[in-house]
Amino acid sequence: MELSQDHSARLDDILRWRRDVRHFNTRPVEPDVLARIEASVDFAPSVGNSRPWRVVRVMDEDKRRAVCDSFERENLAASRAYRDDTRCEYLALKLAGLREAPVHYAFFCDPDPAEGRGLGRRTMPQTLAYSTVMAIHTLWLAARARNIGVGWVSILNPAIMNETLEVPCEWTFIAYLCVGYPVERRDVPELHMRGWQENCSTVWIDR
Ligand SMILES: Cc1cc2nc3c(=O)[nH]c(=O)nc-3n(C[C@H](O)[C@H](O)[C@H](O)COP(=O)(O)O)c2cc1C
Repeated sequence: MELSQDHSARLDDILRWRRDVRHFNTRPVEPDVLARIEASVDFAPSVGNSRPWRVVRVMDEDKRRAVCDSFERENLAASRAYRDDTRCEYLALKLAGLREAPVHYAFFCDPDPAEGRGLGRRTMPQTLAYSTVMAIHTLWLAARARNIGVGWVSILNPAIMNETLEVPCEWTFIAYLCVGYPVERRDVPELHMRGWQENCSTVWIDR
């Protein structure tokens, strides 16, 4: 299929308006929309076509609460690394939408998937984790294309995630995603908007 300028213009819009979302509406995501977003992951690239990502749909309330508790603990611990004013500034940031987001996904990486038969990862086993991140980004864009927001939460204890979600301890926890309709739509990162971190441009090096 040959793509048109219309496609590229729309993709540019999706990239520009993707953004990490932490303020969610509790409105449920329609099952057919969610199914399309989930199906997008199958189009993600992976080392040797190994597709090492394992995705848990976290639906159980007790499990969600355990994830929230882990976030609260780790967020408080993270705040202690900052002093005085910066600590207050950090604590004022909203760094997860765990309570409101209707859909939660936990992404893990299988460090030894049968698929791919080892191709491409002998010298760089971390390419399995990179592949899992590609799957996440694919889902992120597919969600945004349907006006659904995604927020990546990493302020969590990985061991607790494996235990709470009852997955093999060998699987590497990669990300916890909050998914749902955003309260507002932005084309600038929230951390930039709140004055925590200016949106800087990519460092390109020509050799
Ligand atoms: C690996 C990774 C981990 C992240 N973890 C968190 C997190 O724990 N909490 C949070 O609020 N945002 C998290 N984010 C979102 C970033 O803060 C966000 O991507 C960045 O500020 C740029 O904003 P944008 O995604 O809206 O462009 C994470 C993003 C990535 C890629």
